[in-house]
Amino acid sequence: MRILVTGGTGYIGAELARALLNQGHDVVTFGPSSNLGRIADIADDLTVIRGTLEHKAEVFNTVKDHRIERIFHLGSMLSTPSQANPWASFQVNVVGTMNVFEAARLFDVPQVIFSSTIGTFALGAASVVNDFTIQRPTTMYGSGKLYCECLGRFYKNRFGLDYRGIRFPSVIGPGTTQRTVAQYNSWMIEYPALDKPFECFVTPATRGPGMYFKDAVRSLQLIADAPIKSIQTLNYNVGGLSPTPTASDVEAAVREHIPDAMITYKPDPAIMEYYASAKVKVFDDSYARHEWGWTPVFGSLGEIVSDFITEVRTSRSKYGL
Ligand SMILES: NC(=O)c1ccc[n+]([C@@H]2O[C@H](COP(=O)([O-])OP(=O)(O)OC[C@H]3O[C@@H](n4cnc5c(N)ncnc54)[C@H](O)[C@@H]3O)[C@@H](O)[C@H]2O)c1
Repeated sequence: MRILVTGGTGYIGAELARALLNQGHDVVTFGPSSNLGRIADIADDLTVIRGTLEHKAEVFNTVKDHRIERIFHLGSMLSTPSQANPWASFQVNVVGTMNVFEAARLFDVPQVIFSSTIGTFALGAASVVNDFTIQRPTTMYGSGKLYCECLGRFYKNRFGLDYRGIRFPSVIGPGTTQRTVAQYNSWMIEYPALDKPFECFVTPATRGPGMYFKDAVRSLQLIADAPIKSIQTLNYNVGGLSPTPTASDVEAAVREHIPDAMITYKPDPAIMEYYASAKVKVFDDSYARHEWGWTPVFGSLGEIVSDFITEVRTSRSKYGL
């Protein structure tokens, strides 16, 4: 199948592109950067298109010229840059997603998979949220993503697009570069694996739902391949780690492998302000489990930390480390 991955040179997109290639698909990536980053070693096997989501013609040309049959739409500005530049975030995340849906409609792409976020749950959210919890985001990132979840539903109802959406919690894995509020989980494992000190920017008791990057990629593939009749809820939470660990739980799991890990804490007041209002502690993914068979392979902190350290130590260059 000819598959487009927007954001296909990014953290999750690159892993997805790699997995799709291994399955024998023709993969086209689309993004603004000429830096191949995490796909440098497989770049010859892919078609890499340089373009920006907010420029409609660039999205349309890519979909038309490559006769795309499925789109994984992962291209996005993340939370921190969206908050810093909400105007650009609107163009990339909202207009860009509309451009992807329009391209699918006009050039007969049957299916679009969209990546949304736990950040769509905010105001008044209980500590446990499921797919029927009211979403009232307060950030530019969360607001844009929620709009696009609804837009996907609209395109399905109005134009018959096989739209499917996934909400990720914090995705834990090697080689992340953006200092988002939950990035401490990844860096607390990665830095010690590289024998580097890590100053954690949240308190030891801070807790937020997460999943391993390999499971995030798997969830995208699973939902895409699920029979259409099993997709009832349309936009789904997917989780991984249970129970949701604190920062000190992550530290303890790292110390089982690296007892002398150099981990200290210096909470960032701005980030702690976020956690004071971020109430979600359990990201209930039971609808994904029930409807299309979602289960994480890496369900425990121990499994994630062990695999993560191995990846960092054996495949450092693959993750740009
Ligand atoms: N990493 C997480 O913890 C997490 C959590 C929830 C949701 N998500 C979602 O998963 C998806 C992938 O995120 P990621 O973690 O791989 O982040 P990432 O920043 O590594 O990837 C985003 C990709 O989007 C591309 N992009 C940015 N601006 C663009 C533009 N104007 N036009 C085209 N492409 C553009 C970037 O080049 C990058 O390749 C995103 O949609 C994100 O919102 C990620």
